[in-house]
Amino acid sequence: MDIDTAHRISATVDAVRARVGARVPSIGVVLGSGLGAFGDTLTGPKIAYSELPNMATSKVVGHAGNLCFGDVGGVSVVCMQGRVHYYEGHSIDAVVHGVRTMARLGVRAVLITNAAGGVESTWSAGDLMVITDHLNLAGASPLIGPNDASLGPRFPDMTEAYDPELRQMLREVARDEKVPLREGIYAWLTGPTYETPAEVRMVRGLGAQAVGMSTVPEVVALRHMGVRVGALSCITNLAAGIGGQKLDHAEVEATARSRREDLLRLLRGWIMKAGA
Ligand code: HPA
Repeated sequence: MDIDTAHRISATVDAVRARVGARVPSIGVVLGSGLGAFGDTLTGPKIAYSELPNMATSKVVGHAGNLCFGDVGGVSVVCMQGRVHYYEGHSIDAVVHGVRTMARLGVRAVLITNAAGGVESTWSAGDLMVITDHLNLAGASPLIGPNDASLGPRFPDMTEAYDPELRQMLREVARDEKVPLREGIYAWLTGPTYETPAEVRMVRGLGAQAVGMSTVPEVVALRHMGVRVGALSCITNLAAGIGGQKLDHAEVEATARSRREDLLRLLRGWIMKAGA
């Protein structure tokens, strides 16, 4: 964070409000690789990131760049359809600018999704996992630098970073919708290479069940601002050395897309419970 972060957020929030009026969304959603379909189900205003000051745009295939507004069962939602990643060369401040903007728009909770590699040999591509905790192995944090106390404290607590109540809500929705749901710890490495088999053995030894290139900085920035967070991984592949096959982004995206219907049902149900 730097001393201009709060001003940059305000500029984006003002530009969004100029487009959507004074509506205050209660739930924010972040859609990961191949998981953007939910954004297209929202019928409110849709603003391209490129139309907003300070919002970086992802060049990664499978990531649109729209801030979508809508209503799910009476719950007002703002959704980031596509995110930018640290490995794209954006500053870590730019990586979390979208979620900080949603926080300032007034959301009470943010539900984050991502595509991730599975570290457990008994899991399968296509499994869905509620994140219970994370390992930040990227050596980066959006809070490094001077702290702006108007956003949050210098030393945020991370004991229950992934809100237990939101996790329970997702488990209940999964049970009601009959969608199998795993749970586990997500390790963040910067990418953009997929991990080596040795790195995957390392994160497994450290207790992770999934590995990926996003989410953790967003969670850190949101917890700093006191926003509740829930997160869901689509295990798009077994991580390097676990499944034996080589990894490829097209397959990651295709697997994420193949879980579209279940993901839509889980997200809708989760939003209705979280926003109630
Ligand atoms: N590793 C890191 N990120 C990922 C993977 C993976 O295996 N699959 C999807 N995103």
